[in-house]
Amino acid sequence: MTGNTMENLLEVRNLSTFFDTRKGVLKAVNDVSFDLKKGEILGLVGESGSGKSVTALSIMGLIDPPGYIAEGSAKFAGCELIGMPEEEKRLLRGKRIAMIFQDPMMSLNPVLRIDTHMVESITAHRKTDRKEAVKKAVEVFRKVGIPSPEKRLKDYPHQFSGGMRQRVAIAISLLHNPELIIADEPTTALDVTIQEQILYEIERLSRENNVSLIWVTHDIAVIAGLAHKLCVMYAGKIVERGTTDEVLDNPAHPYTKGLIHSLPEMNTRGKPLQQIPGMSYSPIDLPPGCAFKERCPLADISCEQNPGVTKISENHHVCCFHPLM
Ligand SMILES: Nc1ncnc2c1ncn2[C@@H]1O[C@H](COP(=O)(O)OP(=O)(O)OP(=O)(O)O)[C@@H](O)[C@H]1O
Ligand SMILES: [Mg+2]
Repeated sequence: MTGNTMENLLEVRNLSTFFDTRKGVLKAVNDVSFDLKKGEILGLVGESGSGKSVTALSIMGLIDPPGYIAEGSAKFAGCELIGMPEEEKRLLRGKRIAMIFQDPMMSLNPVLRIDTHMVESITAHRKTDRKEAVKKAVEVFRKVGIPSPEKRLKDYPHQFSGGMRQRVAIAISLLHNPELIIADEPTTALDVTIQEQILYEIERLSRENNVSLIWVTHDIAVIAGLAHKLCVMYAGKIVERGTTDEVLDNPAHPYTKGLIHSLPEMNTRGKPLQQIPGMSYSPIDLPPGCAFKERCPLADISCEQNPGVTKISENHHVCCFHPLM
């Protein structure tokens, strides 16, 4: 193992997750590879249906039939997650790896007070008394900037505003001091100011606690100020990856360039992605070759083949026969 590999907290290699559907095999995630070091923030960006959530769920071991991991590996701190027994996965989930979903109400029971949720979550993973657990809950509430934490802990989920509920979800994810948090569009439904505040808090939390973060979003502008590196997904594949600065300053894939140029202003966060002209792909029975070719201004006969990975620089790779340089 090289020194570089040892630093990786997460190593995803050739991960493919398919769904058997009546119309055929849907390749939701197709040969995806990336690394994440300790304390690093990775932005996973792409339009709706590109496979971002399925990538996150595959790593978390939350793919149910008709979905299945067709191939590949995901190692967390050297442990293989794919095929790990359910019991071991449960121990890792919520404890060393936490996930924040888009709609936090989904994971909160409306008839239980927030403190009940949090105390239960703590006592499920380690032996501790209620007093100790409440103390921890207050601590994480404070960490995510919820005012009057002792009082707010006694509230029910519906008593929190959208932004506050997201803070609660982030606070819950911090209960066990996870090493990795996977956040699936947790701020998309919030207004821009609240979103900015939460992004600021999460960046600070990651930095202060050396927590690695995968931030899933369709909004490349959100990630610009947050992520150290980016993976751009299209039709189940990572078409470009690199440090955020390199990818944003010099996008090499025509799709990434389209994403960036479709933004009204790079500094305007929270705006939905504009459509890139051309036909979208059907994720079932994808024709061979580059999936973006139908919409790509640079496509030619070579794009009928599968584009391999081209190295733009040490920290910047693209899958394209006509990379922009
Ligand atoms: N349970 C499922 N059964 C069948 N197909 C699925 C299932 N879950 C996801 N898919 C398909 O897998 C593909 C990738 O979906 P995924 O949810 O990962 O997209 P996404 O990038 O997260 O999109 P969004 O931005 O809309 O959340 C889509 O074509 C989707 O329809
Ligand atoms: Mg999604």
